[in-house]
Amino acid sequence: MDTIIIYYSHSGNNNILAEELNKRIKSDIYKISELRKRYKISILFDSLFKRNSKIENTNIEIKKYKKIILVSPIWDCSIATPMKSFLEREKNNLEKYFFITICNGEIGQKEKIMNELTNIVQRKPENVTELWINDLLPKDKQNKIRYTFNFRINRQDFQKFERKICAFIQNVNNCGDVI
Ligand SMILES: Cc1cc2nc3c(=O)[nH]c(=O)nc-3n(C[C@H](O)[C@H](O)[C@H](O)COP(=O)(O)O)c2cc1C
Repeated sequence: MDTIIIYYSHSGNNNILAEELNKRIKSDIYKISELRKRYKISILFDSLFKRNSKIENTNIEIKKYKKIILVSPIWDCSIATPMKSFLEREKNNLEKYFFITICNGEIGQKEKIMNELTNIVQRKPENVTELWINDLLPKDKQNKIRYTFNFRINRQDFQKFERKICAFIQNVNNCGDVI
């Protein structure tokens, strides 16, 4: 296997996405786990006090994979801290890497994610794709924390994202191929 999906998920949305990708792409899969139990309030404190996250040791050799697919939520316009801790630790072991997230969605956020990844890894990602919860909600519920933060994705929701997911997978599969 030359591809691995590495994911972090707190409330399950990105877990479901990682599993969906794993069904469609020949790949190994690895879940990032934190050493301490995380509560929603600590997400806010991490952001406020610029705290990082302590994660379990990685028991796989990342360096042997040619393509790395990162799946993670976005917190406060930034990649979730457990994924950032993973990237800090493994940045020298990442060959071609791709990032995909199920997040609330915000205009201009994708560029911020791209820059954040580039700064940490010191190399640009091959692809950054956002799947917006806002796109699954009726107009009157979009951008309202009450609806977006508590939204739990299910597999039917992927129909709405099908085009974007296919484009992402195509990019992963074609990347690096000699034409
Ligand atoms: C405290 C907090 C802050 C968040 N900030 C953002 C944000 O800035 N931008 C965004 O698009 N989504 C934001 N979200 C939404 C999450 O990215 C979204 O709910 C995601 O699907 C959760 O993934 P998970 O279920 O895999 O943990 C935030 C969620 C929480 C709880």
